[in-house]
Amino acid sequence: MLPKIPFTLVCLLLVGQLSFAQQKAKDNVVIEKKIDALMAKMTIEEKIGQLNQYTGDRLATGPVTANSTKFQDIKMGRVGSMLNVRGAADTRMVQEIALQSRLKIPLIFGLDVIHGYRTHFPIPLAEAASWDLDAIELSAHIAATEAAASGLHWTFAPMVDISRDPRWGRVMEGAGEDPYLGSLIARARVHGFQGNGLGNTDAIMACVKHFAAYGAAIAGRDYNTVDMSEHMLWETYLPPFKAAADAGAATFMNSFNELNGIPATGSSYLQRDILKGKWGFTGFVVSDWGSVREMVAHGFARNNYEAAKYAITAGSDMDMEGHAYIDNLKKLVNDKKVDIALIDDAVRRVLRKKFELGLFDDPFRFSDAARETKVLSDPKNKIAARTVAEKSIVLLKNQNQVLPLSKTTKSIAVIGPLAKSGDDMKGGWAVPWENDHLVSLYEGLMNKVGNSVKLTYAQGCSITDSSKAGFAEAVETARNADVIVVAIGESAYMAGEAKSRANLNVPGVQEELIKALKATGKPMIVMMMAGRPLIFNYTAQNADAILYTWWLGTEAGNAMANVLFGDYNPSAKLPITFPRAEGQIPIFYNAKNTGRPVKDLNDIVYKSAYIDMPNSPAYAFGYGLSYTTFTLTDLKINQPKMTKDGKLQVTCMLKNTGNYAGAQVVQLYLHDLVASVTRPVKELKDFQKVFLQAGESKEVTFVIDKEKLSFYDSKLNWITEPGEFKLMIGDASDHIVLESSFELID
Ligand code: NOJ
Repeated sequence: MLPKIPFTLVCLLLVGQLSFAQQKAKDNVVIEKKIDALMAKMTIEEKIGQLNQYTGDRLATGPVTANSTKFQDIKMGRVGSMLNVRGAADTRMVQEIALQSRLKIPLIFGLDVIHGYRTHFPIPLAEAASWDLDAIELSAHIAATEAAASGLHWTFAPMVDISRDPRWGRVMEGAGEDPYLGSLIARARVHGFQGNGLGNTDAIMACVKHFAAYGAAIAGRDYNTVDMSEHMLWETYLPPFKAAADAGAATFMNSFNELNGIPATGSSYLQRDILKGKWGFTGFVVSDWGSVREMVAHGFARNNYEAAKYAITAGSDMDMEGHAYIDNLKKLVNDKKVDIALIDDAVRRVLRKKFELGLFDDPFRFSDAARETKVLSDPKNKIAARTVAEKSIVLLKNQNQVLPLSKTTKSIAVIGPLAKSGDDMKGGWAVPWENDHLVSLYEGLMNKVGNSVKLTYAQGCSITDSSKAGFAEAVETARNADVIVVAIGESAYMAGEAKSRANLNVPGVQEELIKALKATGKPMIVMMMAGRPLIFNYTAQNADAILYTWWLGTEAGNAMANVLFGDYNPSAKLPITFPRAEGQIPIFYNAKNTGRPVKDLNDIVYKSAYIDMPNSPAYAFGYGLSYTTFTLTDLKINQPKMTKDGKLQVTCMLKNTGNYAGAQVVQLYLHDLVASVTRPVKELKDFQKVFLQAGESKEVTFVIDKEKLSFYDSKLNWITEPGEFKLMIGDASDHIVLESSFELID
């Protein structure tokens, strides 16, 4: 029972809270007045300058346009923000140039801080596999702390694009396929980056991207067209964006794709009607790299002049490295094609963030070399990266409990092209550093076992080429060891932007190496390293154990060694479905039933099936094993019926029935059996990650309210309809252990 709080204390707390809210409102009024005063002094060129963003020269994250007048432009007040400039010294130097401009308006410095800054954390898809929102928030917060100490004000993250297509290389940057899990992760990341609010020196602006539906590119080819129903957009693709906006994200980025015939950058529907209108977003929208001018290639605008007009009209506030605004907006205003009020609104949005960041008080407060040195070498950050990495590793198979490795193991053959790679552990979208050191699997094992276990190594083959010249040595090395640990997968450069793949096999001859090693008869553990779901049917059937390790960052090898030896018991669950073959894509757990569902695998004639393989995936959303075992029992719903304004309480017992302490993700799915718009057969609506000692039990409670039962009707109204709901609780979307039903009544 909660302790009783005295009434006077409640009043004091309320007064305290109100005065905090009032203080915020007061600050906002002050900021708006300062913006008014500044705007009154600005020329049209200076206003347009605030909407112009250029890239720095040391790092390119897109096709750079040669620009010799960049610094001159900054000095003239013709640039509002720079991306790809980082470090206390460099940002200070460039900021000093901005302060030579007439109105001395400071620049905002932005960078893709996607999964760590100096300390590399696991790629975002890997972190999503942890289903651990605190860990994900912490990872974003550490990235923000490091980046903010290095002169940065803004990260182009989180990427919240739902994707059901692992051919798309950018699945690595998101949180997978599910709108519910994706929304919670989006919120956690925004909170992590923005911490206690802009203005604190450990907080940077989040930029929620890519608005919208970029993850649904046809055939998984990057930048490709998106064509989808409004239902799909609102139910599946928009929820994480809404969650991020509600979490207070400072900025949004639009996207390269067109959506139903309109490029997102030129879409008033997305940016004005939904984001700034319906959702009341007060931050600013930056275009993606050159996406304003790319509307010409889309066939939407005749030239950059028209593209700039469409983009500003649609609500794209800042032009990233596109040169379309700086070259055309003034003429558009003079030609009366663009109302100056549109430009004023965009400029206000940008200036508001500069004030909130405190840049007008001290333009250099983020560019502090002493703080940078201290924060970037903080050993706590590596420890956190290791913890998050451990939580991200998914145990896909563990035949005969070959894992964890016994502490008495005498020799391990460490094999494979990724076994000694530190660099690949960075994954895509990692910030480059000179003398960067990431712990490889081999090094992690060395750190763990020292001389107590004999570690031998053979590369076996490379990641992509077809030579099998190293197979004999690898087989010989395996023969002389107690157990084989093989590291195969993709290189870090095979997933990320513009890294779509038509074949999702493990590249090169790596699976043939697995076949050769299998012939030794030694227990074989495969560490699969990749930025997306790969297809590895031979390995799935023939390895004794498989750990899907994605790309785990700075501490990768140490985290993997801890998992291999059972010092961390795997607890991750797949945030995305793994297909058996590319032909199943798009494949996702929350599908509809169809009129001809397959009920019996032996009866597929005239059914919605493939004749050459089952519909089911290789590994389902929500799947992941542990070294221990759990049972789920005693499902109880506190009442069989629920009114729209009521709530249902659902409880069940989780017991750790194995020999190791560990965490289980208890997943709750619902199916609205009959509705005016058909519903998926399963939708994740809640989950809890529960840690239990061996033998321990715990009651798990979920609360179901109207929100979890609502959906968009045929007119896109968010409604609840009375009827029967099936409730399912399990430890994977394809492993439901407890089932019941309830009725929603008027
Ligand atoms: C293009 C990418 O699509 C976007 O995600 C990124 O933030 C920008 N380039 C800047 O690097």
